[in-house]
Amino acid sequence: MTASYTIPVTAEHEYPVIIGRGLLGELPHLCAGAQRVAIIHSAVLTTSAEAIRDDLHDGGFECFLIEVPASEDAKTAPVASFAWETLGTCGFTRSDVIVGLGGGATTDLAGFVAATWLRGVKVIQIPTTVLAMVDAAVGGKTGINSDAGKNLIGSFHSPHGVLCDMNALDSLPPHDLLSGFAEVIKVGFTHDASILTDIEDRGEACIDPGGDLLADLVRRAVQVKADVVAVDFKETGEGGGVGRAALNYGHTFGHAIERVESYRWRHGAAISVGMVYVAELARLGGKLTESDVQRHRDLLEQLGLPTTYAGDRWDQLLSAMQVDKKARGSVLRFVILNGLQNPVFWEGPDPALLHAAYGAVTA
Ligand code: GLY
Repeated sequence: MTASYTIPVTAEHEYPVIIGRGLLGELPHLCAGAQRVAIIHSAVLTTSAEAIRDDLHDGGFECFLIEVPASEDAKTAPVASFAWETLGTCGFTRSDVIVGLGGGATTDLAGFVAATWLRGVKVIQIPTTVLAMVDAAVGGKTGINSDAGKNLIGSFHSPHGVLCDMNALDSLPPHDLLSGFAEVIKVGFTHDASILTDIEDRGEACIDPGGDLLADLVRRAVQVKADVVAVDFKETGEGGGVGRAALNYGHTFGHAIERVESYRWRHGAAISVGMVYVAELARLGGKLTESDVQRHRDLLEQLGLPTTYAGDRWDQLLSAMQVDKKARGSVLRFVILNGLQNPVFWEGPDPALLHAAYGAVTA
C-alpha cells in the first residue's frame, strides 16, 4: 500500500482513520477551528512532538506539549489530573483540540482527558504502535486504570480523526511491533479469516515495517473495528449478537494477567495468552476443535508471542477476572468462538472448566 487510505468510521459522529506514510500534513486541516492544540506524548516521542508543535505553530495554532509517563504509567488519575491542570493553565477552551501521540496507553489517556475536559473537547489520535493503530486509538474507548482494575474509569468519546502514519513503525522496538500484532490476530479469529491465512502464508513479511503487507493488515484490522463500532458503539449489543464485545476476545484472562503482573506485561502479550485460554475453554465446551486451538498457538508463536503462563497464580487470576468489567454481576462472562469467526458469549462457565483451561495454558 503506497498511497494513503481513508476508512470512515461512523460512531457518535463520522471521522476518518487515515493509513499511509508521511501523514502529518493532514493535522492542521483536522485542527481547523481551534486556536490551541495540546499534544499529549511520552518522553520517547518528544522530538516528534516538537516537530508537530513547530508545524502547527507555523500554521497559526498556539501549541503546547504535555509530556506523560511511558506505557501504562500514563493511565493514572494523577497523570490525568496533571494534564487537566496544564489545560487550565493554558486557557484551553471547548473549541480547542487535544492530540494523542503515542502507543495505546497514551492515546487512551489523551482520549480520556479530552472526554472529560469541559465535558468533551476534540481529540485527534496519532497512534505510533500497531496496537494503538488497530485498536486503542480507533473506536472511542478512552480510560485510565486504578487499583481496582484496568480501564475501569473511562468514557466513550470518539476521536475527530486518526492518523496512522506507518513511518512511526520504522523505529518501533520489535517487541512492541509484535505485541500489537496480537490485536491483528484477534480480529482474524473473530471476524476476518483472510488475516489469518495471510499471516500463515507470508510469515515474517507481515511484520516488516517497510513492506506493504503490514500496512494492508493494519487497514483490514481497522476496517473490522470500524464496521463493529458503527453498529455497537457503546458495547450494549445493539445490532444483535455479541457486537463490540467481540473485540474483547482474549481480554478477560489477558487483563487478569496484566493486573496480576502489575501491568509489567505488554497488553498484546497478555491477550495472546488470553486468546489461547479462551480457545482452550471453548474446546472444553465443545465449541472449537483441537486443531482450531492449535492454530491459535501456531499463529501467535509464529510471531514470537507468548502462549503460556505461570502455573501458580490461579486464585489471583480468578479474582482479577471477577472484577474485570466484562463480568456481569458475579457471573463471569467470556467471549468465546463457537467455530472460528463466530464469537458468542459464554456466561458462568463451570469453575472446573475454567480451571482446566488454565491448566492447558500453564508452562
Ligand atoms: N479494545 C476493544 C474495543 O475497543 O472495544
